[in-house]
Amino acid sequence: MHGVNLDQLGRRDPTHYGGVTLEELEHGISETARELGLEVRFFQTNHEGAFVEHLHRLEGLADAIVLNPGAWTHYSYAIRDALELTHLPAVEVHLSDVDAREAWRRHSVITDLCVSRISGKGPGGYRDALERLREEIAE
Ligand code: DQA
Repeated sequence: MHGVNLDQLGRRDPTHYGGVTLEELEHGISETARELGLEVRFFQTNHEGAFVEHLHRLEGLADAIVLNPGAWTHYSYAIRDALELTHLPAVEVHLSDVDAREAWRRHSVITDLCVSRISGKGPGGYRDALERLREEIAE
């Protein structure tokens, strides 16, 4: 699940986000998932309520969640509450190294609900997330 402004990848500061578009990122994630024997579905929105409602629908439909909520990560208790409701293992991913940027990006309201937090690895972070969740599901 990609949150706010992630549809603008390719136009965002390449020093933090590299040059890949969301379409290219999802293509790479699909390839990795295929390699790992996982099935992935994608969702992106710039509307917080739509992100929340997608989380509401996930229980029973998905085994796990990889989410990059973008800036919502840092303050959306609504997304936090909805994530908690899913009762699914989740990994928080950030393309950029959020701990090495502005102070407000260091705080996440979802980290303690997630089995792992991956930051600053670019698109490769999604591979780590899928591998981690594959282990989690297998247990
Ligand atoms: C981000 C980091 C957030 O701080 C930022 O607001 C984003 C993207 C990342 O992938 O590095 O939109 O989640």
